[in-house]
Amino acid sequence: MKFTARTVSDASTATSQCAVVPLFRNSKLSGAAAALNKASGGAIKAALELGDFTGKSGQSCLLPGTAKSKRLLLIGCGERKKFDRAAAREFARHTYKALNDTTARDALLHLEELEVDGADAEWLLEMLARSLESSSYRYTETVAKPKPALKLARVVVSSSAGKASAQRALDQGAATACGVNTARNLANLPGNVCTPSYLAAQARKLGRGNSKLSIQVLEEKKMRELGMGSLLSVTAGTEQPAKLIVMNYQGGKKSDKPYVLVGKGITFDSGGISLKPGAKMDEMKFDMGGAASVFGTMDAVTRMELPLNVIAVVAAAENMPSGSATKPGDVVTSMSGKTIEVLNTDAEGRLVLCDALTYVERFKPAAVIDIATLTGACVVALGSHATGLYANKDELAQQLLAAGTETHDRAWHMPLWDDYSKQLKSDFADLANLGGPGGGSVTAACFLAEFAGAYDWAHLDIAGTAWDSTPKGATGRPVSLLTRYLLDRAGA
Ligand code: BES
Ligand code: MN
Ligand code: ZN
Repeated sequence: MKFTARTVSDASTATSQCAVVPLFRNSKLSGAAAALNKASGGAIKAALELGDFTGKSGQSCLLPGTAKSKRLLLIGCGERKKFDRAAAREFARHTYKALNDTTARDALLHLEELEVDGADAEWLLEMLARSLESSSYRYTETVAKPKPALKLARVVVSSSAGKASAQRALDQGAATACGVNTARNLANLPGNVCTPSYLAAQARKLGRGNSKLSIQVLEEKKMRELGMGSLLSVTAGTEQPAKLIVMNYQGGKKSDKPYVLVGKGITFDSGGISLKPGAKMDEMKFDMGGAASVFGTMDAVTRMELPLNVIAVVAAAENMPSGSATKPGDVVTSMSGKTIEVLNTDAEGRLVLCDALTYVERFKPAAVIDIATLTGACVVALGSHATGLYANKDELAQQLLAAGTETHDRAWHMPLWDDYSKQLKSDFADLANLGGPGGGSVTAACFLAEFAGAYDWAHLDIAGTAWDSTPKGATGRPVSLLTRYLLDRAGA
């Protein structure tokens, strides 16, 4: 979808296949609404007088158009005084839904008078582009007859914002949504297609034709040389070779410290010898949701050509049981030198991430953020609305929380107290990979913290937010949060 900012001073003279007019309840027609009402011979007023459309939130009304606009689409926005961010998101959702029911290929949105309580015009434009673009997502990869794609290809938005800043906001929203959709596509792929090798090939594809993005894939042999005994213990039971994928985007100055994203890329998590129960095990193809979000964020960052250095590292492996698989009670040595007793082979995410976290020390990062579908306990604690956020630096936590609020891709700050770390004591190694019955999301984060002491670090547990179960599908979270965080760092 292509988004263009314009300032339309007389709506009756602008051509489009569909003019979209937001209307509040009990308000007089003004601006574009008044102009289009006049040009349509009073059609908007007539619709309001019939009483079918009152401007209530959730309502929409499609009317025959004017000489210049083929259709008029009225969208109810509710009470003008209550038009806050949540109401604006509803407006975007209903606009998409109503446009999707037409065959219009382009639309002109009249937002000149749409003021959002608590947000500026740029926020509205960014959200709108992001919402429309991500709503148009369809999974097509492994279905012979996928749902038809959206007809709408061009959206022109007329607003009160300056043209340059309006266009920038639309571009940021659209690029973010493209990243969200990239993440959803990868995560939705089945485990027999999306293997660690497939992810490595995707990274190479992303790097092709982009001189600022270089790709490096570390094979198991190299990982063994580096001493990544923890990561390798997870892949011991499978035929699929593990990959450590490094995507290095140099958009900033050479001397700028990079922001490092680390994604958990378990392309299927059977649990290993600590085998999971059968119900819903198919959903463990989503266990590379963290990796998918890292790919999606890199996609958005490269589209926007952000003036920052960003390095993405994906720890990709499949967790399977077999005669060669790691067993409960095995002790492995991580790249950091710390030994780990694998009490449960299903707590594999932390085992691949800890070596990736040690590996990224070499980049002397400005900050490291890992993203992982790490624990079922996080789903119990926070459900599907908030991502669990942990950090060893409060400033970083606040920046990420703010980015999540701004994009409604929200996270909740969780504790990393020593009291929890104590639960990871082992009788036979420096650390156990299991923290006992209570606070499972916290003890998993505490485990990771043991390997992230060399830099500012945050961990996002997206076990509850990375995918929906009914209907099943990846959400693309937290690409919006991460992209906003990086935009903020770039001052863009
Ligand atoms: N990938 C799972 C976490 C998960 C479970 C995410 C359900 C989303 C939904 C992870 O590898 C795992 O299996 N964690 C275990 C840890 C436990 C053995 C300490 C869990 O949460 O049960
Ligand atoms: Mn597991
Ligand atoms: Zn897992």
